[in-house]
Formats: sequence, C-alpha cells, structure tokens
Amino acid sequence: MDKVCEKCDGTGWIPGESHGISAVTRCDCIFVERRDRIERSASIPPLYQTASLENFLLPKDNPVAARSLQSVMLNVRSYAREFPQTDKPGLLFVGEPGTGKTHLAVAAGRILMERGFECLFFDYQNLLDRIRSGYDAASGTSDREAYRTALDVEVLLLDDLGAHRTTDWVEDTVTSIITYRCNNRKALIATTNLPDVEAAAASGERGNLSPGGRDYRRTLGESIGMRARSRLFEMCRVIRMPAVEDYRIKKSRSL
Ligand SMILES: Nc1ncnc2c1ncn2[C@@H]1O[C@H](COP(=O)(O)OP(=O)(O)OP(=O)(O)O)[C@@H](O)[C@H]1O
Ligand SMILES: [Mg+2]
Ligand SMILES: [Zn+2]
Repeated sequence: MDKVCEKCDGTGWIPGESHGISAVTRCDCIFVERRDRIERSASIPPLYQTASLENFLLPKDNPVAARSLQSVMLNVRSYAREFPQTDKPGLLFVGEPGTGKTHLAVAAGRILMERGFECLFFDYQNLLDRIRSGYDAASGTSDREAYRTALDVEVLLLDDLGAHRTTDWVEDTVTSIITYRCNNRKALIATTNLPDVEAAAASGERGNLSPGGRDYRRTLGESIGMRARSRLFEMCRVIRMPAVEDYRIKKSRSL
C-alpha cells in the first residue's frame, strides 16, 4: 500500500481555520496521486520512460535542422500546454526513422499527464493484434477492452501508424477508431514514417518523395485507407520532422 500522507492523514483534506471558522482545504497529495496513477497506467514503453522536451537535444553539427527542430519543440510545447484549447485536438508526427517522433509524442503526452489528462500509449501493430485477438472467441477480456480503450481514453498515443500489413479488417478498424475520436474531438497523438504528400506540403517541403522520382514505399493513405487519412488531417496538427541523421545510428557511433 502507498504511504499515507502525513499532511492530511490520507483524507485529501487539511483542517484549518479561516476568519475564526474551521475550514478545510484540499491537500496537494490528491493531485500528485492522480498524476502518478495516470503515469503508471499510460503504458509508456521503458525506452521512452524519461523522454521529455528537456532531454530532446538539438544537433550541433546541423544548424538548419536544429532551427526547425526548435520550432517543432515550440509547437509541441504550445499544443501540450494549451490543450484542449488548441486549433486541433491532436498531433501527427511525420518523418524518417530515428528522427525523434516517438520521443516527442511521449514528451507531449507527459506534459498532458502532468496536467491531469489520462493518456495511453499504444504501438499501432500491437493495438491491432490485441484487438484482433479480442475478436477470436476464447481470448481474455482485457483484449476485448483494447478496442474500447482506444476509443475512450482521453488522449491516445498511437505509435508507428500504418506499420502493419494492410487488410480490409485493418483499414476498417483504424477508420472506426479514428472516426470515433475525430467525431468526439478526442485527442490523438500519432507518429508515422510513411510518406505523405500532404504532410510534406503542410510544412512547405517536398517531403520524402525523392526528387524527380516517386517513392516506392507504401504511402500513409495506402496503408490506413483514405478515409482514416482524411480524418487524421482534420484532427491533427501535422508536425513534419526535418531531415536529421537517424539518432539511433548517431548515438551508436558516439558510444
Ligand atoms: N533529438 C534527440 N535528442 C535526444 N534523444 C533523441 C533525439 N532524437 C531521437 N532521440 C532518441 O533516439 C531514439 C530514437 O528516436 P525515436 O524513437 O523518437 O525515433 P522515431 O522518429 O520514432 O523513429 P521510428 O520512425 O523508427 O519509430 C529514442 O531513444 C529517442 O529517445
Ligand atoms: Mg517511433
Ligand atoms: Zn495529503
């Protein structure tokens, strides 16, 4: 059991006096406790347990990229501080592998959790697997709940959107989750490394379509379906990651 708060004896209220009349005030511990509970149930993967804006570093060797990463960070910070009074209820990080999308998505989620919003991290592939196994008759209830949770949680962090074999079932499932959240103006913070012409245009870039040629990777629309993609753009501020070196490779070299 958690230690009982000494200030309020675990009641959440502190007795006191105001103008000679006894009165009680709320003890801070209830907010701290709620925040801890939210963080514990968010399922942030261990690798990103400490990811925040404070430990997101700007590349020293690439001032152009550093400047655009700085504006990405400002964008993330303002979204997370202003939510739900934001232009759009969600964020969509688009960019190449290892550019910090998941790190920043978690960083945004962390600020929201500190502000008391309930977040839940799901790896896209894993979410689909769990939903699918929920449909297979004999599985446990927790898997059945995966779908419901993905609809209902205040803030859904959906990592690596589109990284899955595309089938009608996948497309229908993603469309229904995104449509429900979009209709109910529920926050979705998603990341993807699939190319998307619109996402590139939104940032005034050509994006990752190779010059003069076409990108032979599957596009976001091909992967999740055009209806889900359309709603994603409606409900998310698109954050296009600048071209930086894959941080995983960079780090492995400096070790
Ligand atoms: N600018 C940065 N400063 C500090 N750590 C970083 C930075 N960019 C990435 N990282 C770290 O590098 C690793 C890879 O970053 P991350 O997982 O966010 O990349 P990603 O864009 O989500 O890649 P993928 O498309 O492969 O999922 C993580 O451990 C992350 O914390
Ligand atoms: Mg990622
Ligand atoms: Zn207390």
